[in-house]
Amino acid sequence: MSSWLKPALVLAVVLWTASAPAAGPSEKFPGIGRAATSNEIKAWDIDVRPDFKGLPKGQGSVRQGEVVWEAQCASCHGTFGELSDIFTPIVGGTSTADIRTGRVDSLLPGANQPQRSTLMKVSTLSTLWDYINRAMPWNAPKSLSANEVYAVTAYILNLGNIVPADFTLSDANMREVQERLPNRKGMSTAHAMWPGRELGGHARPDVQGSSCVHDCKAGVAVRSFLPDYARNAHGQLSEQSRLVGASRGADTSRPPPATSVPNPALALAVPAKDAPEKIATKVPAGAAETAAVMPVLQKNACIACHGMDNKIVGPSFREIANKYKGRADAVNYLSGKIKVGGQGVWGNVPMPPQALSEADSARLAHWLVKDF
Ligand code: HEC
Ligand code: HEC
Repeated sequence: MSSWLKPALVLAVVLWTASAPAAGPSEKFPGIGRAATSNEIKAWDIDVRPDFKGLPKGQGSVRQGEVVWEAQCASCHGTFGELSDIFTPIVGGTSTADIRTGRVDSLLPGANQPQRSTLMKVSTLSTLWDYINRAMPWNAPKSLSANEVYAVTAYILNLGNIVPADFTLSDANMREVQERLPNRKGMSTAHAMWPGRELGGHARPDVQGSSCVHDCKAGVAVRSFLPDYARNAHGQLSEQSRLVGASRGADTSRPPPATSVPNPALALAVPAKDAPEKIATKVPAGAAETAAVMPVLQKNACIACHGMDNKIVGPSFREIANKYKGRADAVNYLSGKIKVGGQGVWGNVPMPPQALSEADSARLAHWLVKDF
């Protein structure tokens, strides 16, 4: 091949690859999925690293953060980030001496600190920013704008006396604030976990992967599977997941999809007395009614705070149903409470008012009292 043709060919291949339709079947692993589109990668690629790589441009002041906090965070974490009903407190246990030294004294053995707060433990500001950005508020993750994340992070830092009340946090000054984080020197890398020698750490990481696989088997043998009797053991998974991302949890009330054929040899793993055919699939009373109201529960993020049978932020729907079943005015009472929210019936954590129609709240109240 002549020497000028070679680069031209390489270029042609590069151009072709770059413009190849992303939605086609995967070339590298035929039959397995498809290549991700650039928009899909963009939506996933939101991590902010300790060196602040990935941090979007933006800014937010302590004052603006207070507004976000009061409206969207305080109900679960307390007005001053001090509440421990739902999770360990976010603020508390740090001092100006810690800000100077970069080590939090109240983490030391013997310190009289009832609980470890977020500000006591976190050693990279990027982690706090990233966590809020991807996971909070609990009932509506990924709903905050970048500026709101800066603002509410600034507010939390101000509650911990790390930045003053007139401070504005931005991508430009995150590094400076990192240098004031109380536990910035509290992270130990003197063990093999991370970072390994490759990243300037002390040792090779504990776990090492190899991207090179030899002598692969031609077929796929499923070596473990979830037996039927265990599939729904923890309730309907798809109802317990938050409505974020592509994976919403399997519908465990149905049999698994036919594509995941269990290895018959593994059927032996089922204890004889619990053989699958003897275990009637438990369809609880009211299952159809629950399935019918599920879209309303999901649309309003009720299930981010209420499990069917387990307490999350609020009581379980089962507890609520049991408490009010005998009451004559139960449907009316609950229908009103669902719309306006409230506090003190089940504990200190308030339920925020819900923006749903009268008809929907009446329907949910009826379901709770009559069908559930
Ligand atoms: C509906 C309740 C709820 C609301 C509202 C809420 N959170 Fe949370 N938050 C939680 C729960 C539950 C966890 C623990 C989550 C977990 O462990 O997976 C948590 C964890 C956190 C953490 C991590 C603490 C740690 O040390 O790991 C931070 C920071 C945080 N929330 C900030 C916020 C901010 C900022 C807002 C408002 C924008 C907010 N939260 C709104 C329930 C809530
Ligand atoms: C941010 C979390 C959160 C969300 C979202 C939420 N709830 Fe609640 N809910 C709570 C908390 C906390 C309580 C307990 C309040 C109390 O102690 O008075 C509660 C209480 C209730 C009660 C019992 C009221 C009483 O007076 O006993 C019902 C019914 C209820 N919620 C239904 C719903 C429905 C339906 C939705 C969706 C439209 C919903 N909740 C959304 C947190 C939430």
